[in-house]
Amino acid sequence: MPKQEIQIFTLGKSERKPIIFIHGFPFEHHMWDKQINELKSLYYCVAYDIRGMGVSPAGDGQFTMESFVDDLEFIINDFKLDKPVLCGLSMGGYIALRGAERMEYKLGGLILCDTKSEADTDESKLKRAEGIKKINQEGVQKFITGFVPNCFAESFISSSAREYNEILSKALNSDSIGVKGCLLAMQGRTDVTPYLSKIKIPSLVVCGEEDKFTPPFAMGKMMEKIKNSKFITIPGAGHMSPVENPEFFNKAIMVFLKENFN
Ligand code: MLT
Repeated sequence: MPKQEIQIFTLGKSERKPIIFIHGFPFEHHMWDKQINELKSLYYCVAYDIRGMGVSPAGDGQFTMESFVDDLEFIINDFKLDKPVLCGLSMGGYIALRGAERMEYKLGGLILCDTKSEADTDESKLKRAEGIKKINQEGVQKFITGFVPNCFAESFISSSAREYNEILSKALNSDSIGVKGCLLAMQGRTDVTPYLSKIKIPSLVVCGEEDKFTPPFAMGKMMEKIKNSKFITIPGAGHMSPVENPEFFNKAIMVFLKENFN
């Protein structure tokens, strides 16, 4: 599969410290717009659409977490990024964590948002299978309509209805092969928990206070396993903390970046 097909977007000066933004499922790189707009004057911001999502082609949809990390490594090498900080949310966090386990020597730091290190439990594996069945029987839009509302705090959906609907309608345009490929890749990913205590690069763990998928108590436990890491909770936000409370989120990551990379 030619790696050049992934759609990659950069903003800021390439001499600056690079940050790679890796989006969550079933979204695309625009979820990071509010971070990149603020950080682009200080950092080299690189975002991309994970294969099968957004405008990156789904191809045959035969993805694995390893092939997602191969794509990430391709970006680091092709853009000659010097020790980038990886900022990944949820599925993007799975890619960042496994990427770090495979090639920490190529990285500068980690910002792990609303994510976890454990592999899918049997219960989650069955949910992924149900999701794929739903897509096959009722179409991808039915699956997305059921999945996306759980990613946000109810208060965000009601107070920012226009923004929420824009995000939802983009997700509704997802390619069913890409969505199923991501579900299978997540279902088959390894458990990176044993690696957490070995992480040497500076790490920030961020979690929306109302995140239902990866709640603060679970992310706090993950942070305790990573030496030299910090944990921040984002008020009023669910699983999509950078979208839901960008002011608070941006301040938190800015402090981390300044402390470690200036
Ligand atoms: C995500 O936001 O990327 C997904 O919720 C991850 C998952 O389904 O495990």
